[in-house]
Amino acid sequence: MCGIIGYIGKQKASPILLNGLQRLEYRGYDSAGLAVLEKGQFNALKRTGRVENLRKPVLAADSQARLGISHTRWATHGGVTEANAHPHVSWDGRLALVHNGVIENYKAIKRELEAKGIEFKSETDSEALVNLIAYFYNLELKESGKSHKQALLQALRTALYQVEGTYGIGIMCTDLPEHMIGARKGSPLVIGVGKGENLLASDVTAFAGRTQNVVYLSDGQIAYLSEEDFEITNIDAETVSPHIDTISWDIEDAELGAYPHYMLKEIFEQPMAIENAMRGRFSQDGSTAQFGGLNIDPRELRQIDRILFLGCGTAWHSCLVAEYLIEKYARIPVEVEYASEFRYRNAPLDKNTLVFTVSQSGETIDTLEAQREAKRKGYRVLGITNVVGSTIARENDGGIYQHSGPEIGVASTKAFTAQVHIAAMLALYLGRMRDMSFSEGIQIVNALKKAPGMVAQVLNQTEHIKEIAERFAEKSDYLFLGRQAMFPIALEGALKLKEVSYIHAEGYPAAEMKHGPIALISPECPTVAFAMKSEIFQKSLANVQEIRARKGPVIAITDAGKDFPADLADAVIEIPEAHEVVQPVLASIPVQLLAYYTALARNCDVDKPRNLAKSVTVE
Ligand code: G6P
Repeated sequence: MCGIIGYIGKQKASPILLNGLQRLEYRGYDSAGLAVLEKGQFNALKRTGRVENLRKPVLAADSQARLGISHTRWATHGGVTEANAHPHVSWDGRLALVHNGVIENYKAIKRELEAKGIEFKSETDSEALVNLIAYFYNLELKESGKSHKQALLQALRTALYQVEGTYGIGIMCTDLPEHMIGARKGSPLVIGVGKGENLLASDVTAFAGRTQNVVYLSDGQIAYLSEEDFEITNIDAETVSPHIDTISWDIEDAELGAYPHYMLKEIFEQPMAIENAMRGRFSQDGSTAQFGGLNIDPRELRQIDRILFLGCGTAWHSCLVAEYLIEKYARIPVEVEYASEFRYRNAPLDKNTLVFTVSQSGETIDTLEAQREAKRKGYRVLGITNVVGSTIARENDGGIYQHSGPEIGVASTKAFTAQVHIAAMLALYLGRMRDMSFSEGIQIVNALKKAPGMVAQVLNQTEHIKEIAERFAEKSDYLFLGRQAMFPIALEGALKLKEVSYIHAEGYPAAEMKHGPIALISPECPTVAFAMKSEIFQKSLANVQEIRARKGPVIAITDAGKDFPADLADAVIEIPEAHEVVQPVLASIPVQLLAYYTALARNCDVDKPRNLAKSVTVE
C-alpha cells in the first residue's frame, strides 16, 4: 500500500524513478509524485491519478539530478489531492520525505509543531513526520555542532522514537546532496545495490532491469545511502552488517509481453505457476509430497493435532480450500481465521496447534501482525508466500514458497491457484504421515501432476467464457454458489467479479441460498453454480432447479459432461473431470475469466480496480 522508490547514482534520477513507480503502481494509484535534489533545492512534481499523469511533466522538466525520491499513493489520511501527494517537504525546505504506512499519533505531533509556529500544507500524517524530523534536525544543528549526517541521523532517531504506527520512508536533505536515507517499521523497505548506484524501494519489483542484488531492511533499521555505498544502523545507532540477497526472477516476468492486461497474462500463466509449485516436491516413490523449507521434523509434525490458517482476501479463500482438503485427506482439524480478526481476538490455542499464514505478497500487515502474535505466544508458524524475502517469509519459522513469479494484476489469479494447489499437496503430505495408504498417495500425486494440462484445457474455452461474460455484463448483481471445496471458489468468484467489474456479487454455500440470498434471485441476478460430480451432485442440481424456478439466469460450471442436464442452465462451462483435490483449481479458471471479460465489457480498469491496492500494508 503506497509504493516508494528512491535513486542515487550516476544517471538521471527522474526516468529511473518513473519506471520504478510504474512497477510499484499496484500498491496504490490515487496520486503520484517525485522530487529531485539539484543545486541545493528540491524540485517536486505531483499529480493526482496514475503515474502516467506524472510522466509527461517530469520528462518535460528533464532534470539532470542524480538523486531523487518518489511515491505512488493509496490515500489513508487526507483526500486525493496534489497537496496530499508525496513527497512532502518540511516547512523549512530542508527535508523531503516519501512515506508508506500510517503515523497514528500524527494529530498530537501536528498540534505540538503548530504550537511552535510550524505551518502545514497538507492533511497527511506523513507531513507531520517530515516536520518532526526537520524540527529535531534544526535543534541538533543548533545545539550540538555535529556534522549534517550525524545531526540528521540523530534527529531521525529521536523522531522515530516518538511516532506510533508504521513507516517505510525515504528522505533527502538539502545539506546532504550526495545521500539518501531510508527507515522502516511495519512497512517494507528494500535497498537495491547497483553498480555506482543505489536504490531504495517498497518492493524489489521496482528494481527490475537495474539490479538483482538487494538488502531487505528489518523493522527499526535505518539505511544511509550514497551512490557507491550504504550503511545500515538500528534505532539505537548500532551498526548492522548487511546481507545481500539475489533475486532470481527475470525482468520479462514482470512485463506485459503480448497481453493487454496483467490479469489476463497471469490467468494464462497458471499452468506454469502450478508446475512451479510442484517442482521437486514429490517423493521419489511418487506417493507423497515433500517440502524442503518447512524446518519441522516429521516426528514433530506428526504430533500436531490442529492447524490454524490465517490470511486476508483471496489468500483467506485458499485457506478455506486447505481446510476442506486437509480435514478430508489428513484428518487433522483445521480452522481458518481472518488474520485481522485473529490478531486482536486473543483466541485460545492448543499447544499442539500449528499455524500457517498464507500471503501472496508476504507483506499484508494484518497477516504479518497475526503471525507475530502467534509467534509471541510460542506457536510454530509456517507460511505459504509467493514473494521470496518478504517480511512474512523472513519472520516465520519456515514454509513453502509458491514460485508463481511476480503477480502484478491487483486481482490475484495465479497466486491463488498456486496456493490452492499447495494446499492439496499439503493435505497429501500430512495425510501420508497419518492414515493415507501408499496407493491413495500415488493416485493423488498422479492427479496433482495432471493439473497444469487440465488448466490449459479450461483456458482453451476462453472465447466461450468471454461470450458468456458479455451476455450478462449489464447485470447489477451476481450470486456464486458451491458446495464443499467449491464453496471457497464461489467466494473467490464473487470477490474477483466485485474487485474488477464493480458488480455486487455474493458467494454462498449452495444449500444456504434458501436461507436468504434466494430473495435476490430474479432475471436481473445471474447465478454461477458449481455442479461437480460427487455424492452430492444431485443436490447441487436441485439448487440450480430452485433458481430456475424463480427465473434466475444460471451459468453452470461442471465436470459432469453429458450428465449435466443441458436445459438446466442458460450457459454451461465444462471443466475436465478430475480428482477432487484438483477440482478447486480447475473451477477457479472460469470465474477468473468471467470476471476479467465482464470488467472489460464494462470498461473497467482490470489491472488497477478503483480503491484497491495489491499489497495492503496499512490496517
Ligand atoms: C489485497 C489484495 C488481494 C489479496 C489480499 C491479501 O486485498 O487486493 O488480492 O488477496 O490483499 O494479500 P496477500 O498478499 O497477503 O495475499
